Amino acid sequence: MALGVPDISAAREFFENHWQLDFVGGDTGRVFLGAGCQDHHVLRLRATAEPRVDLLSLAAARDADVDEIAERVAAHPLARLVSTPATCDDAGGGYRFRFLDCDGRTVEVSSGMEVRPFRSVEPGESRPTGISHVVLNTADLPAALAFYRSVFGLTVSDWVEDIMVFLRTGSPHHMLAFTRAPHTSLNHIAFELRGIDEFMKATGALMNKGFSPLWGPGRHGVGANTFTYFQEPSSRFVAEYTTGMLRIDPDHEWMPRVYPGNAQTSDTWGVAAARDEAVSASLRGCPDTGLWQPPPV
Ligand SMILES: [Fe+2]
Repeated sequence: MALGVPDISAAREFFENHWQLDFVGGDTGRVFLGAGCQDHHVLRLRATAEPRVDLLSLAAARDADVDEIAERVAAHPLARLVSTPATCDDAGGGYRFRFLDCDGRTVEVSSGMEVRPFRSVEPGESRPTGISHVVLNTADLPAALAFYRSVFGLTVSDWVEDIMVFLRTGSPHHMLAFTRAPHTSLNHIAFELRGIDEFMKATGALMNKGFSPLWGPGRHGVGANTFTYFQEPSSRFVAEYTTGMLRIDPDHEWMPRVYPGNAQTSDTWGVAAARDEAVSASLRGCPDTGLWQPPPV
């Protein structure tokens, strides 16, 4: 995931020192942050005039998969290619291409990224182990769903009424979700913690530093993952700590369910405060200023 932020020092301070990502490197106006996994980086920050989503980054298993996805993108009437698949010498390397999706987000698909020597997350440590999932707001949910299913072959896991749809590609219940909203924007990025103890410790560590959770801790009724949402103070982007997501056996015949949009669906534990309008407004965010304008790097 790559975000444009107006105060890159403040955003780096938050994600490195408080959120506990690892500083991997940087160059003019960019900072790369890793987690307790081999991915070169899990979050890229770039200095921009206004907050914007630079890239939704998706990994493919093989170069051939990147080519295949690029072919589907090229043939899709609502997609616009930004670059064709090629070996990249930018940070992380790999074989990648970029395109604009149906809402104008820039999506990057890559394979064979450099692996980074990393320190594993030990029991009791509250560093994230990687990205769990990303939730996107869209003004046209049926179009976004159809687009991502056709380009990436994603599978629907579940719904909340007709306002939120959860998508998977492997066994975790969701790696991507779309929410109906007045505009296109980032809802949140969720980072995986090692387990429930580490999740609570991570939540507590931020609270003890004076950051109030936007919402949580709690456990979602859909996907069964725990959640505590915080807002990065300078850019207002929302990040989630999570763990314990339901895994769906690929051999199991899974029937997507439609959940009611109520308190039990939001938080099965019943300990998180009700999801009020302030929480919804923060998750809705502002219209993304990065739409239809791929980042220059
Ligand atoms: Fe989430």
